Amino acid sequence: MSGKLIVFEGVEGCGKTSQMQLCCEWLESLGISVVVTREPGGTELGLHLRRLLLEKAEPVAQVTELLLYAADRAQHVEQELKPQLQAGKYILCDRYTDSTIAYQGYGRGLNMSLINQLNHIATGGLESDLTIWLDVDVEVGLARKRGDGIGLDRIEQETIAFHRRVQQGYAELAASYPSRIVRVDGSLSKEAVQQVIQEILRVHLKGLL
Ligand code: TMP
Repeated sequence: MSGKLIVFEGVEGCGKTSQMQLCCEWLESLGISVVVTREPGGTELGLHLRRLLLEKAEPVAQVTELLLYAADRAQHVEQELKPQLQAGKYILCDRYTDSTIAYQGYGRGLNMSLINQLNHIATGGLESDLTIWLDVDVEVGLARKRGDGIGLDRIEQETIAFHRRVQQGYAELAASYPSRIVRVDGSLSKEAVQQVIQEILRVHLKGLL
């Protein structure tokens, strides 16, 4: 596959969405064709799953939650990621397999080998070329979310302890996969974070940018 899969990860309110947008504008200004997508919800089917997963309406069993994220990912990989990579596109993807490890693995405490198996089934082994982990303090991130006036979704409403375990998950993932996952200090200004991300992309995509 000739494109690149660049994933943005982090706890709630870490700033992924605005950084991805800035990154997209920057890459396009360099004449690169970019696709911006997300999990859950990067396909028609995925949008339905996203609603089921994040609305507060009814309780969702932990294994059900895990399977729904896996189903969203399987559809996304087949319908969107693989074809776009084959077409040579740069994909900026808001969350991917590490979210499941951090949230369902570290956050919920579900069996890690089951999660790894499901991630493998859903992706067919497709890994990110680079994952940017935007590291912000959990409480700072949640305060940003509360401040945007939209209201917290089912997962954002989890306990602080849950979100701290998710954060710990990202820290351990970044330590385990230093060449794939790069930590960025998300507490800096929006402009400073974007600067750092662009430098990382220049290094990782050497010769392409
Ligand atoms: P976001 O796209 O607005 O960040 O919201 C997605 C939510 O879904 C967020 O709370 C993280 C959660 N999530 C999981 O728990 N597991 C996953 O595998 C993915 C992709 C997201």
